Amino acid sequence: MDKLLIENIGMLATPIGTSARRGAEQGQIRILRNAWLLMEDGLIADLGTGEPPQDITERFDVEGSLVTPGLVDAHTHLIFGGWRQNELGLKLHGVSYLEILAQGGGILSTVKATRAAEEEELFEKAWDALDEMLDLGVTTVEAKSGYGLDVETELKQLRVIRDLNEAHPIDLAATFLGAHALPPEYKENRESYLRLLCDTVIPQVSEKKLAEFCDVFCETGVFTAEESKRILEAGKRCGLIPKIHADEIDPIGGSQLTAEVGAISAEHLIVCPPEGIEAMAKAGTVACCLPATSFYLGSTYAPVRDMIQAGVPVALASDFNPGSCPSLNLQFVMNLGCLRYKMTPEEVLTAVTLNAAAAINRANTIGSLEPGKKADLVIWDAPDLDYICYRMGSNLAGTVIKNGKVERGWLHGVLD
Ligand code: NIG
Ligand code: FE
Repeated sequence: MDKLLIENIGMLATPIGTSARRGAEQGQIRILRNAWLLMEDGLIADLGTGEPPQDITERFDVEGSLVTPGLVDAHTHLIFGGWRQNELGLKLHGVSYLEILAQGGGILSTVKATRAAEEEELFEKAWDALDEMLDLGVTTVEAKSGYGLDVETELKQLRVIRDLNEAHPIDLAATFLGAHALPPEYKENRESYLRLLCDTVIPQVSEKKLAEFCDVFCETGVFTAEESKRILEAGKRCGLIPKIHADEIDPIGGSQLTAEVGAISAEHLIVCPPEGIEAMAKAGTVACCLPATSFYLGSTYAPVRDMIQAGVPVALASDFNPGSCPSLNLQFVMNLGCLRYKMTPEEVLTAVTLNAAAAINRANTIGSLEPGKKADLVIWDAPDLDYICYRMGSNLAGTVIKNGKVERGWLHGVLD
């Protein structure tokens, strides 16, 4: 049996439970001081305070560090060809995100690059991004398709996600986002694209077991609330769990749809109206908020305090993509959670661990440090939780453990 003991933990901070925490509970985490944690066969076997078990040979003194669950990034567009640095100048000259898209740039220029890329090339590029995420303390990642917008390339992106999940230490959850934009070849024929998605692509994705979730970009000039509903219902019929990009730029009814379709999460929510908050509270939908996107777009910030007040569980994620958020740094997202959303460090921790796990239907296996859950954890170069929410721009993830194995940091190799 493969046992590893982490001892002399200065602060162990973790949410508790196997479902999303909402309202006041989002900030009620377990804090243990002078703690230890025992891992066995990739799972957490036990943890406590005071004297650790003495009969374990492989043991590491972490010298008073903070230990938390591994971070979960519940919203990324990880698989894409090219980058879009050329849009920075346009942006600085006041051309808006939706204007760039309407001119055939934005998402559509990444679609061109992704269609042109070989599968191996996409794999290598995303592998490097995952390596960087692991360095930053991320142990599980959701990844979307949506830069193919045709059968062949959507399936290519999803196969890359499947292969990365098998090969990379990080676990991935796949989301089908064929409704990310209207492809140029269907510009005059929306209905045919909707039919292609509902009648051909979604059934194939499901049959090949290439995704667990179905997402849509419900936005002005992209897909209406009615079209979004149609796509998500088609996904549901094929066993795909609904997610929605809602209220990112215009509030056109995306967040209200959550209750109608039973969405597991709604994403962005920058301009979420009170009725949307009500719908999410009613449906138990996780609000997956993406503050680095607000930062990069220079927009306002999602009304997270109102959501917490209304009993909506909040997750925070990176939204890593080449257009609206060219950053995969979840530690920066945590800083913004405090500074821009006015969340407490405790609420932020829940948002990037247990609630993020709930947004991808994994709250029973990851997202908290409890016996029986996966031994995914970060030993921080930090004495406490406040410190990692307050320091900015440095990577404070000291050692990263995934499935009980040291993947990064100063313990790496000690075990081999
Ligand atoms: O979540 N909003 C839609 N999709 C992405 C952006 C994709 C892109 O610009 O390439 C987002 O922000
Ligand atoms: Fe997104």
